[in-house]
Amino acid sequence: GRSMAVFTSGGDSQGMNSAVRSVVRMGIYLGCKVYFIYEGYQGMCDGGENIREADWNLVSDIIQRGGTIIGSARCKDFREKEGRLKACFNLIEKDITNLVCIGGDGSLTGANTFRQEWPSLVKELLQQGKISKEKAEKCGNIQIVGLVGSIDNDFCGTDMTIGTDTALQRIIEAVDAVMATAQSHQRAFVIEVMGRHCGYLGLVAALASEADFCFIPEWPPPTNWREILCAKLHHTRSTGNRLNIIIVAEGAIDREGKPITVEIVRDVIKNTLHYDTRATVLGHVQRGGNPSAFDRLLGCRMGAEAVLALMEMTPESEPCVVSIDGNQMVRVPLMECVARTQAVQKAMDGKEWELAVKLRGRS
Ligand code: F6P
Repeated sequence: GRSMAVFTSGGDSQGMNSAVRSVVRMGIYLGCKVYFIYEGYQGMCDGGENIREADWNLVSDIIQRGGTIIGSARCKDFREKEGRLKACFNLIEKDITNLVCIGGDGSLTGANTFRQEWPSLVKELLQQGKISKEKAEKCGNIQIVGLVGSIDNDFCGTDMTIGTDTALQRIIEAVDAVMATAQSHQRAFVIEVMGRHCGYLGLVAALASEADFCFIPEWPPPTNWREILCAKLHHTRSTGNRLNIIIVAEGAIDREGKPITVEIVRDVIKNTLHYDTRATVLGHVQRGGNPSAFDRLLGCRMGAEAVLALMEMTPESEPCVVSIDGNQMVRVPLMECVARTQAVQKAMDGKEWELAVKLRGRS
């Protein structure tokens, strides 16, 4: 069987453990040797104890846990060629030429660079006398499959990323809790949710929590948004409601590209409507807690498909991402997804909001 390794990289997300478990068990089931790489790319560069063989039981009792038991990091060393050379050596030492990378678009782009560079890294190690000719021949290529683990749902090419459903659940629980106190005091609450440059969490949380208003980066409000907002909140109160909920995605901006923050929105409401108004930033609570059934299942299915993809790959195969399309696990070219994700950001930077929304949708 082949030797493969699994690692998690970038921000953690709920359901990553389920994916790790699935890769390990599917790999072992198919007769492979499966390794953990602890601490993401950092562990790959540092080697040693960071790369250890996994076994069936090591992944028991983790499916229900948030975060990632094998650790994650945002790694500087791997961005340098020197770091990648070390990583290559550490993998070759253990005959690992198959990788499952669980992370966001930055981590997956890094994986693609690594794969393209791999033959030249192997050559360099051979020239330096660090590996034998047999090793260099045996490990001349590397195969990579990516799984998207992120609460943001900001990656093009998959309907959902691992962790998004659970983060939404955390947000909804928090908004429900805030609503109880808000209605007692007849207050307005402006709540910031995560998502970096993506408004998915904000938009869907607003729909699911019956919020009055929502600000997201992909759809900056008209320049008179202050009046529109206040009129809407006033209307809600005038029909007998005792509270207001406004959701602000952390990346929300106005038409000029200036941030719309919870503090700005709170002050608009306070100064215009004179409602008792509070701003709440949910923060990393959204990345915590036990994964939902959906994310556990998504991790399971993606992990298993990733191993199947690796088994079928040849040295010529382009790296792929395992994604969910409708209710099916499908393989899509990694670089196509990364390119589309980057195109969305470019459209947003260029204030082409409609194009950004179109690109974000399914192709
Ligand atoms: O990508 C996940 C995410 O939680 C984003 O929503 C957020 O902008 C960012 O990571 C926070 O990063 P950090 O955990 O490094 O503070």
